Amino acid sequence: MPHTSQSSPQNLEPAWQTLLAHAQQIKQQHLRHLFATDPKRFERFSLASGEFLLDYSKNLITDQTLELLLQLADGADLKGWIKRMFQGEKINNTEGRAVLHTALRNQSNTPVMVDGEDVMPEVNRVLAQMEAFCNRIRQGQWKGYSGKPITDIVNIGIGGSGLGPHMVATALRPYWKDGLNVHFVSNVDGADINETLAGISAETTLFIIASKTFTTRETMTNAHTARQWFLQHSGNDHKRVRHHFVAVSTNATAVRAFGIDHDNMFEFWDWVGGRYSLWSAIGLPVALVVGMDNFRNLLAGAHEMDQHFCNAEFSANLPVILGLLGVWYRNFIGVGNHAILPYDHSLRLLPAYLQQADMESNGKRVTRDGSPVGYSTGPVIWGQPGTNGQHAFFQLMHQGTELAPADFILPAHTHHPVSEHHKILCANCIAQTEALMRGKTEAEVREELAAAGMDAARIDRLAPHRTFPGNKPSNTLLIRKLTPHNLGKLIAMYEHKIFVESIIWNINAFDQWGVELGKQLAGVIEKELDSASPCTGHDGSTNGLVNYLKKQ
Ligand code: F6P
Repeated sequence: MPHTSQSSPQNLEPAWQTLLAHAQQIKQQHLRHLFATDPKRFERFSLASGEFLLDYSKNLITDQTLELLLQLADGADLKGWIKRMFQGEKINNTEGRAVLHTALRNQSNTPVMVDGEDVMPEVNRVLAQMEAFCNRIRQGQWKGYSGKPITDIVNIGIGGSGLGPHMVATALRPYWKDGLNVHFVSNVDGADINETLAGISAETTLFIIASKTFTTRETMTNAHTARQWFLQHSGNDHKRVRHHFVAVSTNATAVRAFGIDHDNMFEFWDWVGGRYSLWSAIGLPVALVVGMDNFRNLLAGAHEMDQHFCNAEFSANLPVILGLLGVWYRNFIGVGNHAILPYDHSLRLLPAYLQQADMESNGKRVTRDGSPVGYSTGPVIWGQPGTNGQHAFFQLMHQGTELAPADFILPAHTHHPVSEHHKILCANCIAQTEALMRGKTEAEVREELAAAGMDAARIDRLAPHRTFPGNKPSNTLLIRKLTPHNLGKLIAMYEHKIFVESIIWNINAFDQWGVELGKQLAGVIEKELDSASPCTGHDGSTNGLVNYLKKQ
């Protein structure tokens, strides 16, 4: 059963109870009214940071809401937790690990200590290794077995080891080097690798096997298929593999066992969580296509957000405000979802990326010490790029019975200045936030229809269908342009938002035990699918499905 939000996380009474009571008052108000009575609402509820402008004025909040939410952050010792994370304390308590994706983009290069050792020299060593490798590939000095330069990179990895670099490479398409393509294979469904292999040549392809553990079933299956394909298409000479396969992993032994030289391995560390790993060598496919300077700009943008997160007052802190708003809707307004709506085609993978980042982090049902939470935690994250979504699920957002708070993300400048496209895109984005907020009253509908000459009976029939309740909340994030720097900053902003929420909820955002059970059972069922005897060891449904498949 879903949790109600009646009990509070540890130490957060009485602010929690005050917020619950306050939410009842807010639910009586309409955003239209709040805007009409407060001409300075946009100025007060918007934040500028570098090339970002966050307008959060179209949220169901007042000054008092923010004050109470900020008290919640103080009560949860958010400041202390931020410090602990950045200083390398082992805040991932169930895995006994530090959480230091921030060290990977630590441009200030101040030491970051884990177990008494500064991790920065290692971080910089791998960045230098990536740089040298990228230069060789991009300048055509690294040759395939037949002496031709590399034209295609195939990244084989899943979850953080696939989706992260895939999303970033897609978003930075305008920065790709001409003549160098990157492909991403993640699904164990043979269609994924087959379709990719069909379009490339063994002579000019570099495979990156990206896996933190180097044991993930999907990745290793795809990696073996890729190696077999490569051997078949390159004269079956195992010595040629070294020119075409490199690995990104924490597991040097497994990489060697697969047949990749240590020299061709890019290392990262157990203090980098999978879904937070694109800043590490997991970003290699991105660095290869956009170049190391652009990759460093991505890191610099994330570092800028890290600095902002650590130093800005909470009331002017982008991730803190977004995280507190997330908690507000989840626990006090009672909403179980959040939409990510990038109005930028190149950010089309961002909703899926943030779905993993948020739901794998905050989809937890026990607190850090293992007690059941008595309140709701991470919402369902979903979305699609605008304007496509407008012709699909926006109907429900405007007139359905489910509230769906949303983030609209819009770059002011486009990389594709094609006739009027960008102006139309911008107009649609802003218009949707206005329509969701304002709605259209029945009186307005009646007036409009009467002015159009519709007869009274028809107006009576149609008015309820054409009425929009409005009062639907959204954030709008305007970004000057989607550069590598601003993309890094954007991703880091969401990472920290997720962290803020996890601290209020007193959960560990950095483990993912919830994905283990399915993996274990898949291993069992795989064997049963191979076995000659009927499957009997599960419940009726599972046995029935396995046996049906075996017959097919
Ligand atoms: O799905 C669980 C998960 O562990 C993710 O957190 C991770 O990004 C993904 O699997 C891939 O894991 P690996 O990089 O070890 O192959």
